[in-house]
Amino acid sequence: MAEIISGKVVSAAKREELKERVKALNEKGISTGLAVIIVGNNSASRVYVNNKKKGCEEIGVTSFEYALSEETTEAELLTLINELNNDDRVDGILCQLPLPKHIDEKVILNFIDPAKDVDAFHPVNVGHIMIGDFTFLPCTPAGIMEMLKFYNISVSGKKCVVIGRSNIVGKPMAMLLLKENGTVEICHSRTANLKEETLSADILVAAVGIADFVTADMVKEGAVVIDVGMNRNAEGKLCGDVCFDEVEKKASFITPVPGGVGPMTITMLLENTVRSAEAKA
Ligand code: GUN
Repeated sequence: MAEIISGKVVSAAKREELKERVKALNEKGISTGLAVIIVGNNSASRVYVNNKKKGCEEIGVTSFEYALSEETTEAELLTLINELNNDDRVDGILCQLPLPKHIDEKVILNFIDPAKDVDAFHPVNVGHIMIGDFTFLPCTPAGIMEMLKFYNISVSGKKCVVIGRSNIVGKPMAMLLLKENGTVEICHSRTANLKEETLSADILVAAVGIADFVTADMVKEGAVVIDVGMNRNAEGKLCGDVCFDEVEKKASFITPVPGGVGPMTITMLLENTVRSAEAKA
């Protein structure tokens, strides 16, 4: 039976550390601020943004919310970002995705000052991640690395298989595992014999976005299984990409959904915001 990797426990410990770092900045007369932009009425985005604001409050970071209407133009959004790029109270700028269809996400993300890009989505920061020399961490993958460290799970020399090749999770995840000397493979929808690949994994990261995609027959005995999925099953219940009940019996460690990777992502966003303020100091 696998040991449960609790994102809640790791996240709480990390937030305590961040609180101290924000306090140390305050004592030097330096404030820390995060600007959060949300455009339109996406209900999931609203929940995420509220949680990000709550996280800021918890560790003493000031949050500035910009809730814009669905009709906001690309030019208006660029004007706001330009102001925030030049606002000394703002250490981090987060533009919640997805944006309405008439706004080009790439144009917006590329306009955020890389020094305030706490999502690490700007090509400059993506490049830093690629060469292993970075200030801003990719939030979800960095949260996973933090959990592995907390549970003393070593990556060095291990076979790591990542299922999913997104820019937000799959690709940067592979880079962070590689930096820790893992032997890394990225699998995706066109991978031939996926099961053969996943069965070789000492550390398996599922970032597919399909409920119950990873079944026990795809997992090696004793593997560490990380579930990045956030799906709704037929009953509307939140579930991951991994068939938890059956895989739990085979894995050595496993993250649950909810309560696994999810809580870590916002915590690492806060880490990036504090890092940005520390760099300013
Ligand atoms: N939408 C879903 N996940 C994210 C994220 O990590 N950052 C931003 N900005 N938008 C998102």
